[in-house]
Amino acid sequence: MLKTTPVPAEPDASPHAEGVSNDEFRAAMSRLAAGVCLITAHEAPTAPGGPRGEDVGMTATAFLSVSLEPPLVLVSLREGSRMDDLLAEQPLWAVSVLADHQLQIAGRFAMKGRISDRLLFADLPYVRGEASGAPLLNGALATLECRTENRVEAGDHTLVIGRVLTAALPSPDSGPLTYFRGRYRHLG
Ligand SMILES: Cc1cc2nc3c(=O)[nH]c(=O)nc-3n(C[C@H](O)[C@H](O)[C@H](O)COP(=O)(O)O)c2cc1C
Repeated sequence: MLKTTPVPAEPDASPHAEGVSNDEFRAAMSRLAAGVCLITAHEAPTAPGGPRGEDVGMTATAFLSVSLEPPLVLVSLREGSRMDDLLAEQPLWAVSVLADHQLQIAGRFAMKGRISDRLLFADLPYVRGEASGAPLLNGALATLECRTENRVEAGDHTLVIGRVLTAALPSPDSGPLTYFRGRYRHLG
């Protein structure tokens, strides 16, 4: 069972510590090179015989390994994003760690304001995870299927902590897709 403990404020914190502007914060964080992932989940049909369910995807860099025993990972989702709303309702999701040749996939699943992901998945090669029902991309460096163990509200995001149910290496020798200073990059 996970517990969340608030960190007490430092009595001698710098007066500037809470005065950082959005631009300063973004610029600093843009210097943290990150691997790029596609988070996926399958939204079950609302009613038997009704409209069929839909696969949902979201490009994310805020994904990390948390614990080995048990195997836990964390993804940070913008509150109110479609993935955040979906994972508030159902616990199964998956991660495809993108390879450098999957840059266009990252771009299409980062578009804001799209209504449906049906067309975005239509021409993508993927298999459906047996544990999660979510799409796992062929050609990804690694794929993981997860079940949510805990959700923590953090500012304008939700931290979703998931237990890893399966892990696989569809294309282990490809190079990673990374994001650095506001651009997708290939290593090397
Ligand atoms: C490189 C990159 C990394 C991103 N990382 C995250 C992330 O970690 N968490 C998140 O909530 N959104 C992240 N986003 C934004 C989402 O991909 C984007 O808001 C979402 O796909 C649009 O769907 P929505 O309208 O439901 O938010 C990232 C976008 C890009 C381009």
